Order: sequence, then C-alpha cells, then structure tokens
Amino acid sequence: MENIKAIIFDAYGTLFDVNSAAEKCKNKIGDKWELFANYWRTTQLEYTWLRSLMDRHQDFWKITEESLDKSMKVFNIDTSMKGELLDLYKVLSTFPEVKETLKKLKEKKYKLAILSNGTPSLLDELVNSNDLESIFDDVLSIEEVRIYKPHPNVYNIPIKKYQIKKNQFAYLSSNTWDVSAAGNFGFNAVWVNRNKNIFDNLDYKPLTEINKLSDLNNLL
Ligand code: LAC
Repeated sequence: MENIKAIIFDAYGTLFDVNSAAEKCKNKIGDKWELFANYWRTTQLEYTWLRSLMDRHQDFWKITEESLDKSMKVFNIDTSMKGELLDLYKVLSTFPEVKETLKKLKEKKYKLAILSNGTPSLLDELVNSNDLESIFDDVLSIEEVRIYKPHPNVYNIPIKKYQIKKNQFAYLSSNTWDVSAAGNFGFNAVWVNRNKNIFDNLDYKPLTEINKLSDLNNLL
C-alpha cells in the first residue's frame, strides 16, 4: 500500500470488543454468555441491514437495545440484567493491541478516523472511556447519511471530509462484509482477522489480511 494519507477504522469488533459487555456479566449469564453475545451482535447487524432496506432508520443505540431485548428472550436471560448490559455496551474495551498501534500510526502523521454505525455520542463515549480522544482526527458516524453500512453513501463520508482519492485511504475492519463493501467502493481494504474466520464471497477479496491491528505497522 503506497501513498496512503488517511486510515479509517471500523469501530465495533475492530477497535472495540463487542463481546466484552456480556463477558463482564459471565458469572450471572453462565456458560452460554459467548453464544448469547454472538447472537446479540448478529441480530443487531441484521436489524441495521433490514432497517436500511425497509427505509425505516433508527439509530444504533435503539437497534442495540431492540436486538438485546430479542436476544435476552431467546437465551432466557433475566430482564433485570438489561440495564447493566446496555451500560457496559457504552464503555466496551478496546482489543489489547489497539492503543499502542494507534499511537504509532499517529506519530507517522496519517489522518486517523473512525467510520461507524454508532451514533456520534456513543462513539465519543467509547473513545473517551478508552482514553483515545487525542488519537483521532475525526469520529465519523453513519448518522450523517442515515443509512447503515454497507451502503456506499457511508464510505463516501470520509471522501467528502478529506477530499483525497479513494486509493489514498486504507480501511480497516474485522467485519468481512464491511471489508468487501469498502473494497468495492475503492478503498484499500484490509481485513483484521483475529479469529481465523473465512472471508465472504461478495465481489472483493481483501488486499491484505492481518491477524491483529499491530501488523498494520509493518504494512505502512
Ligand atoms: C461499525 C460496525 C459495523 O462500527 O461494527 O460500524
């Protein structure tokens, strides 16, 4: 990857561990905590896609809550836990290597931004609770275009912001479909494959696959 000027990061699942909310409650949820966390995440994403297709937008916090309601019913989790799970979702932890990697990229003078389904206030809270506020030049939310990833209007947000060419962006995501969409859009899309997953067949193969974010420092 040459001539990269800006690096754009997906938030949920790429910088921040979406399972960390349920994991912190695993003593109360029991062994099924991980299955439950994965079901919640899958349902949350399905709701973003379905709402975009139905043209009935609701923000990501509403969707997170509505997908949690369904998931708690499916997994027979006591409704009294809802508030705790939602509070924890606002302060998800970063994956261990994230902060150090971002600091090194910042020293190399790249523009660094988040582009996420999250609302501006949710993203600010995640960034602040993980002490990352001095790292990012911008925190960009799909609320600007009110349609969810993988719609191309979303990937156009950083183009409008930075006025540079598509091939001057590196786009990092652990979500395979998000990598496909960003790559089809024209970004240099890199897949962060932490869990040895299989890639999707959606017209784009990732330019590069890395196992953790810190591998990025060898590429740029
Ligand atoms: C996001 C979701 C896709 O942060 O992880 O946009």
